[in-house]
Amino acid sequence: MITHIVGNRPQFIKLAPLYHALEQAGCEQNIIHSGQHYDENMSDVFFRELGIPAPYVNLMAGGGSHAQVTAKAMVGLEEELLNKNPELVILYGDTNTTLAGAVVASKLCIPIVHVEAGTRIHCKTNPEECNRIATDHLSDILFCPDDISMHNLQKEGLDHLAYLTGDIMYDTYLSIAEKSADQMSQEDIIVMTWHRQENTSDRERMDSILNLVRQLGSKVVCPLHPRTRKCLTEYGLMEKAKAIPNFEITDPVGYLEMVALMQRAKLILTDSGGVSKESAYAGAKCLFMLDADVWEYLVRDHWIQKVNPEDQASVEKALQFAGRAEHVDQEDRPKYYGDGHAAAKMVQALKERNLI
Ligand code: UD1
Ligand code: UDP
Repeated sequence: MITHIVGNRPQFIKLAPLYHALEQAGCEQNIIHSGQHYDENMSDVFFRELGIPAPYVNLMAGGGSHAQVTAKAMVGLEEELLNKNPELVILYGDTNTTLAGAVVASKLCIPIVHVEAGTRIHCKTNPEECNRIATDHLSDILFCPDDISMHNLQKEGLDHLAYLTGDIMYDTYLSIAEKSADQMSQEDIIVMTWHRQENTSDRERMDSILNLVRQLGSKVVCPLHPRTRKCLTEYGLMEKAKAIPNFEITDPVGYLEMVALMQRAKLILTDSGGVSKESAYAGAKCLFMLDADVWEYLVRDHWIQKVNPEDQASVEKALQFAGRAEHVDQEDRPKYYGDGHAAAKMVQALKERNLI
């Protein structure tokens, strides 16, 4: 039995292609949901749209501090893994659910596969960086989205466990994009996502992000993460946000709608690791609102431009970047993250290591 441990929106998106590839290879699998994300539009919608079977259990670990979520997930995971005793555990990304899975499975001596290993932003005040470093070092097989991630693992002495598979999110993206298609009429919209702790835990910071949105001028469509909605409301900034004429706030959307939105965009404004990379798949350049070493090739190629919303000089540069942005055709998009067959390469590697 292979157990997938997931709990957050981006993990459901990463799980889909690997689940289906392992199914084709005849593997017995089950899914544990930590419950870290729990709203219908942050969780169930992805299972439905991407054809993933329902988790056999939900640990209801969502809503709380880092320690509360991680600890609750750990207690539930230990019980489940002891009960079912799987031969392999698969973890995704860098969330508190990932960390909980790594700590619990390693102490039960269950081999761990880490999907999206080796990414580093070289900043330990970032909660996800702590999770990914710990998870990589507790895992037995590491699947990397690009050669920079491979190199990071080499520097940490983990290269003997690492495979360059390409980005599994590209597998998912292609499976949906082929259906919804780039033929869709382009609009002059900017798509925005916003949820990182660094951008939601300080009122001034949130206010400066709203000012950036206003200055962009074009229509900004923002499926708002529940964390950000809560923080805007708590800081008394929701009315200001709603009053920005070019700002269209919606609830979080399913993946099909998100892909369709990105395909229509001329620009993406985000602090999301996943969305900033998907910008290259969808052909919309990206303003990234975090001072971190994100997807280095895309930054080097000026596909991603970092912006500090609190620094007017940086905002001016961002506005110029936005002013030049146009939707980019398929053949001119950067291609650094594999060929969309990451899941098949993962299955092959697991077979080579006699893990399935
Ligand atoms: C988490 C991950 C982050 C990832 C993001 C994906 C960690 C440390 N962070 O951040 O790496 O980029 O998921 O979206 O694990 N909430 C709801 N409903 C939900 C989910 C969340 O209301 O379905 C609210 C709750 O108030 C919760 C808050 O959002 O306390 C934050 O959720 P949490 O899962 O702790 O962090 P994210 O910001 O979602
Ligand atoms: N996404 C989505 N609906 C939304 C916002 C994002 O389907 O309303 C998708 C997005 O396309 C990407 C993933 O969710 O595939 C990214 O998740 P998120 O930004 O929450 O997490 P991160 O990548 O920062 O860990």
